[in-house]
Amino acid sequence: MTASGETIASALLAWYGRHARDLPWRARPGEPAPDPYRVWLSEVMLQQTTVAAVKPYFAAFTARWPTVEALAAAPEDAVMAAWAGLGYYSRARNLVKCARVVADRGGFPDTEAELRKLPGLGDYTAAAVAAIAFARRAVVVDANVERVVARLFAVEAPLPPARKAIRAHADAITPEENAGDFAQAMMDLGSGICTARDPKCLLCPLSANCEGRRRGDPARYPVKAPKKAKPQRTGTAWWIEREGRVWLVRRPGSGMLGGMRALPDDGWSARGDGDAQPPVAGDWQDTGTVRHGFTHFDLDLRVMALRDAPDMPGEGAWWPMDELAAAGLPTLFAKAARRALAREIEIR
Ligand code: ADE
Repeated sequence: MTASGETIASALLAWYGRHARDLPWRARPGEPAPDPYRVWLSEVMLQQTTVAAVKPYFAAFTARWPTVEALAAAPEDAVMAAWAGLGYYSRARNLVKCARVVADRGGFPDTEAELRKLPGLGDYTAAAVAAIAFARRAVVVDANVERVVARLFAVEAPLPPARKAIRAHADAITPEENAGDFAQAMMDLGSGICTARDPKCLLCPLSANCEGRRRGDPARYPVKAPKKAKPQRTGTAWWIEREGRVWLVRRPGSGMLGGMRALPDDGWSARGDGDAQPPVAGDWQDTGTVRHGFTHFDLDLRVMALRDAPDMPGEGAWWPMDELAAAGLPTLFAKAARRALAREIEIR
């Protein structure tokens, strides 16, 4: 580590000692590492999701499945349903797969390289678990860390190509000891002080070392390549109702929202725009459209309802409408269900 790297690491660790967020999956700064299961679970949940959104899910999962062995023994369906609302559902499928591999081998491996081989663990998660749960020196770079480092070193190249340079800078300031505290300190700094729009440099323990600040406009970093507009897709979901129940299907295991319970739809996820062909003939009512943003496109999903449906062919289940909250619908279909139900209340 360079001399300035050491200065940065020690200033940051001292700040973390005073200001670390108290989070349910964390040890206090300087204390022994927490349970690897809790670290891994929290890191998987926190990818693409905020701390505030993760907290109740983390509490529910650890109450229901307190160990990796308990999670390994859980039916995949139950885990998928408990995950509903967190998004990026392949994470939940990989979570069960990974728990089973870990339980079979008698616990988590304790190096970054071995962790990286587990299902669902990418570079970030393997580094985070190695550092936080096993006190290994690992370079942990998430979006918060990326922003802090881009500012500290005034990285002028735009993201995403700048990632390599940012990683090299992060490596240069990561200490040999306390890499877990260091990583979490960077995350806390990024989420509370070195924020995207309005960095609070007067409160920052690294402001004296920050090249972005010295150049006068730290919020300019990380520089981003101009965004391409997201494509807009359209589709239709079918709300099929009969005697207080609604017809739900299970989505295929691979593909968007794979393995999740859902309303039937017209195939927008596989074919782009759906074909709007209803699965049965009947007196369909248009209840309106819901919008949902996915990573690579935005979707306008029309919700058509059939209030007095015949029995349905094919695979699915009649789910009691007053127990819909327990169905574990992903957010898109929960929105669609609310749309269909709101319309029903308007009509009555
Ligand atoms: N985001 C991802 N991992 C985190 C952690 N361990 N603490 C706070 N925010 C995080």
